Amino acid sequence: MNSKTVYIHTLGCQMNVYDSDRICIRLLGMGYDRVSSAEAADLVIINTCAIRAKAEQKLYSLVGRLADLKKKKPALRIGIGGCVAQQEGEKLLNRAPCIDFVFGTHAIGRLNDLITQVERSGRRTVDVKLADCPDDDFSYAMNPSISRQISRFVTIMTGCDNYCTYCVVPYVRGAEVSRPPEHILDEIHMLADSGVREITLLGQNVNSYGQKEGWCNFPELLKQISGIENISRIRFTTSHPKDLSEELIQAFSTLKKVGHHIHLPVQSGSDRILKRMNRRYTHSDYLAKIDRLREICPDMAVTTDFIVGFPGEDEADFQDTLNLIQAVQFDSVFAFKYSDRPSAPASRFSNKVDEDVKSDRLGRLLELQKKCTLRRHQSLIGTRQVILVEGRSPRAAESNQAIVQWTGRTSGNHIVHFSLHNRNGSPEPDLTGQMLSVQISRSFPHSLWGDVIADETDKVYFSSKQS
Ligand code: SAH
Ligand code: SF4
Ligand code: F3S
Repeated sequence: MNSKTVYIHTLGCQMNVYDSDRICIRLLGMGYDRVSSAEAADLVIINTCAIRAKAEQKLYSLVGRLADLKKKKPALRIGIGGCVAQQEGEKLLNRAPCIDFVFGTHAIGRLNDLITQVERSGRRTVDVKLADCPDDDFSYAMNPSISRQISRFVTIMTGCDNYCTYCVVPYVRGAEVSRPPEHILDEIHMLADSGVREITLLGQNVNSYGQKEGWCNFPELLKQISGIENISRIRFTTSHPKDLSEELIQAFSTLKKVGHHIHLPVQSGSDRILKRMNRRYTHSDYLAKIDRLREICPDMAVTTDFIVGFPGEDEADFQDTLNLIQAVQFDSVFAFKYSDRPSAPASRFSNKVDEDVKSDRLGRLLELQKKCTLRRHQSLIGTRQVILVEGRSPRAAESNQAIVQWTGRTSGNHIVHFSLHNRNGSPEPDLTGQMLSVQISRSFPHSLWGDVIADETDKVYFSSKQS
């Protein structure tokens, strides 16, 4: 047991989850133990998100609570990292006297020095320098103290050069930079050796991986990762529709480990709004890409993101969005009310949409999508799917049910629950990490139920039917 403890609270996207692991490993190296509450910690780090006003607000309410805690425990140190830290820098220190240090999205490699300095001098410090090339340290993958999971994120590129007019990412993550392929492959080899079976590659626009640097392109990177033994499944997010190439579409069918799921954020179905968003594709370009994806892979699951109430969006524009949902029949969607981001140009656009109109549109969009998701789930009943087992279902584990319920995901990323029976009193095997064939027998709004047909070694199990 070390004498110092750290609590890390992560807000925001998968890239922040990945970064928090890298932050954690640095702190373990400095003699900290990780704890699961701020109350038990000597140091609290919040890894923040600036994508919408609400995300930023979460930080301020957490800081309010930490300020109270610090009154009772004056030695507590508080550090703020991530996208709000990058955006606000010094201003955070002025706003909240309880904060000891602020570090931006490119400062993780310099964190040890920063914290040592704060520990020694007690001086409040800010490091929000954006480097040309953020540090590329993946030694976390070798550290056994990072809790091992079946599925892990691996960032393959940082930043973004697309400048969609609503988006803060290019300002808080810097210019697009791709990591060298050999670093990515080494990292995934290490993860595979430690038991990871599924990798989700992260980038704001993975389709443009390696283009600026002249590394291999994204489909070639996928091919090389596919060659890594013990990695059973590869996923990636996010793809930008304008850069979705024919070669990548083909990779879904030629590379057997690549999951048949694409997250392809469309944002709006209106050409006028897409133009104002600077997305650089049209409604019909998008539909053409979906047609091609389904031509190559008929079972392709498609998910997307929408922003409703972008400045200038009228009812006719919104109808174009609803029409696009009807045409595509997404498996699921994330939808957000447009939120002004001060550094992004759309915050200065005219014709802002009222909050109640945004709420109304969001409600109508989600209502329509609910029906599409149900239909998509129902259409899977009777199909045979190969699932990667992630572990016991958390709810079933909590309720201590006699029959163990397991959870896995299909190639299309649908959640499937199942259980085994007829085990004649023999102990339940640990199925975590196995690839199992299941036949889908029931569908629910957020998941499916499957009957196991065979495991990866073709040993047949009989699963219990849900009553
Ligand atoms: N790189 C990804 C998006 C990353 S941000 C892409 O190009 O699609 C994740 C999602 O947040 C976006 O797809 C968008 O739907 C939403 N988002 C981004 N900025 C927003 C804003 N200002 N208001 C509301 N939603 C926003
Ligand atoms: Fe933001 Fe657009 Fe870049 Fe996505 S592609 S991160 S939405 S600027
Ligand atoms: Fe949020 Fe930064 Fe991710 S703004 S969505 S944490 S890149």
